[in-house]
Formats: sequence, structure tokens, C-alpha cells
Amino acid sequence: MTSGGFVEPEIIEKVRVGKDYVAAKYGFRNHWYPVLLSSELTEDNPVAATVCGENILFNRLEGEVKAIKDQCLHKGVRFSRHLECYKKGTVTCWYHGFTYRYEDGQLNGIVGVPDSKIIGTRRIRTYPVTEAKGVVFVFVGDEYFDVPPLSHDVPPDFLEEGFTVCGRRQEVASNWRVGCENGFDSTHIFIHKNSTLVKHADLALPLGLVPTGKESFKIQDEDGGPKGVFDLFSPETVNPVFEGKIEGEGVLSGAADGKNLLPHSISMWLPCALCIKPWPVPELKQFEWYVPIDGERHVYFQFLGKYTENEEEEQAFAKEFEERWVPEALIGFNEDDIWAREATQPFYADGSGWVNEQLFEADENIVKWRRLAHKHNRGLQEPKHVDPA
Ligand code: FES
Ligand SMILES: [Fe+2]
Repeated sequence: MTSGGFVEPEIIEKVRVGKDYVAAKYGFRNHWYPVLLSSELTEDNPVAATVCGENILFNRLEGEVKAIKDQCLHKGVRFSRHLECYKKGTVTCWYHGFTYRYEDGQLNGIVGVPDSKIIGTRRIRTYPVTEAKGVVFVFVGDEYFDVPPLSHDVPPDFLEEGFTVCGRRQEVASNWRVGCENGFDSTHIFIHKNSTLVKHADLALPLGLVPTGKESFKIQDEDGGPKGVFDLFSPETVNPVFEGKIEGEGVLSGAADGKNLLPHSISMWLPCALCIKPWPVPELKQFEWYVPIDGERHVYFQFLGKYTENEEEEQAFAKEFEERWVPEALIGFNEDDIWAREATQPFYADGSGWVNEQLFEADENIVKWRRLAHKHNRGLQEPKHVDPA
């Protein structure tokens, strides 16, 4: 593949582990990605989004989400630049009136030239979409790819029955892999040492975590299911470090007194999802996605999930999510992560960081993730797939 703003072939050649991963600057192809929260897409109110460099227009019609390429066949402009609609279920290009159906992408009219011979003979591409747990997912891939079920592309617990999920999303100015590796990196716990969440959630938060050996990690890559790597945090698999030292001298202490020694595991899943369980308190789990927008930005999805028995409990959790967890955890705590990613981005921006970085033993989980992603991805986003900005 030609680099065209992607990673230079000379760099990929030098990479020892995870060549495909390093090449996937715009993400992996033929995977499901979360794109919007269901609540953001109201009836017949289209929303545009860029996923893995592809511009896509989403609309909810009769309750069902549809997605078409956000690009007119005629002169290639984006419909979303100025949305026009004259017939339900269609979008009309603002420039010369080409009109397309959301259902199948067919060019079904040209407003000012209603008898044109090309009407009915052309179409723009549509994208498979589905909704689960209040999230809209889109399948970014080849048009005739045999689309796997959503459950193959999300962490195992996320879709469980009786599990209520609340979430939010925001744009972050770093490549998606910098996002994944910030979330999955166990020793980055160091940046959270002063977080107010430590007290509020009564956490025992070490300054570092030292994996004890091979048992510290577990790969899940059986056929017909999601593919991921677990970093296990039981006392047998990891040594938490609460006393920070330099040259043998104690310099800093972690929060050793909290009653919640969390999480028990962090796992990273293809195409770009993280699961932390439990977190930030024993009855909750956190899920994150780092969805590529382009080579320099990703959408950071944050979800907390809880098992609930009835609607009342679901509503109580939704309230707790908004009032407590968004400010304390998803903003308060994870803000550290966002600035860390943005601060890491320049080093990896031109691709040289992948060969110039100096990993150490505690990064073994990251190496395992890169290897898994290289082996089990279903394809790469290449320059030919990326739309003009
Ligand atoms: S560019 Fe869309 S109708 Fe001409
Ligand atoms: Fe973090």
C-alpha cells in the first residue's frame, strides 16, 4: 500500500511485532464501530460522522437507523455540508438536486432535471448499522463483506442481558492506537495518583503494577467470538507497588488504605475497545472505545454498566451515572488520560514513534495486544478508503 499520509513502508518494515497494527493508522477494516449514542439520533434528523476516514450520514427512519455514504455521486460534495430533504426517506444534494434513498442508496430523482436518464441507474453505498445498549454501531468495511455479528467486535460482557449501559463520547486529538494503549497500559496508573476519585470511590490505587509472569495475561482468540487480551490483576499475577522509590529511596506513596483494590482485570478487544472490571466501584464495569476519525483524532466512548433487575433500577443507575459518575470518574479521572494521549500524539504522529519507543517489561500487555490485533484484524483502512476531509 502507498503511504499517502499513512505510515511509511520503511517504518513498517522495521517493526518487529504487530506490523498490521502499525500500518492501521486509520483503523482496521471490516469491523463494527460505535458511532453515536442512540439518543443522539432522533427521527428523520440526519447526523454526519467520520469513522476510519469514511464520511457517513446516519438517519433514523420509522425508528430504524440507516447509513449512507456522505458524498454525492455527481461532484463528490458532502450532503451534510447543507442538508436538504424534500421527500421522507431521501436526502437531496444541496448543489444540483441529486436525490438518494437512505434505504438502498439509489439515485431516485434529480429535483431540477426530473427526467434524467441516470435516475434509477446509480447508487451510493450504504453501511450496515445496528443498535445495542443505547449505542449505534456501524460496520466499516467492504461492501459485500460477509458481516459478522456485532458480538464478535465488542467485549464479552457488554451485550449481556440485564446489563444496563450508560455512556458519553467526545473527540480526542490523538491517533486511536494512542488511545488504546493509554487505556490498556497498566503502569499509566501513575498519572492518576492525585485523582479525587481515589478518595471518593475508596480506591487502593498503587503507583505501579508489576506483572509476575506469563499468567499475568490471557489471550481470548477462539473462532466465532471477540478477540482480546486480558491483563489480570489478582495478587498472584501482579504486584502492586505502593511505595515509589528512586535509587532505593522512598519518594512517593500510593493510596494503600482504600478498601477497593480495583480493577481485577483490564482487557483490550478488536477493533478498539477496552473493558475494565470492576471499575470504579465493585458493582460497575467500564468500557471504552477509541474509534478512529482519521489518522490524528479518535472518538472516545466511555460507558459504565451495571446489572439491573427492573426499570426502576435502570433509571436509578442512569441518574447515578449523570450525577455522580460523569463528573467524578468519566470527566474527573479520565481527563488525565485524555491529556496524556494528546501529549503522546506528536511522538507517534509521523509513525517513527513505533520504532523509536522504548518499551519495558510492564508493557508486555501492550505487546500482546499489538500481536493479537495484527493477527486477527479483518483488514486495513488504506488510503483508497479514506474520503477527502
Ligand atoms: S454535486 Fe451533488 S448534485 Fe451536483
Ligand atoms: Fe487511565
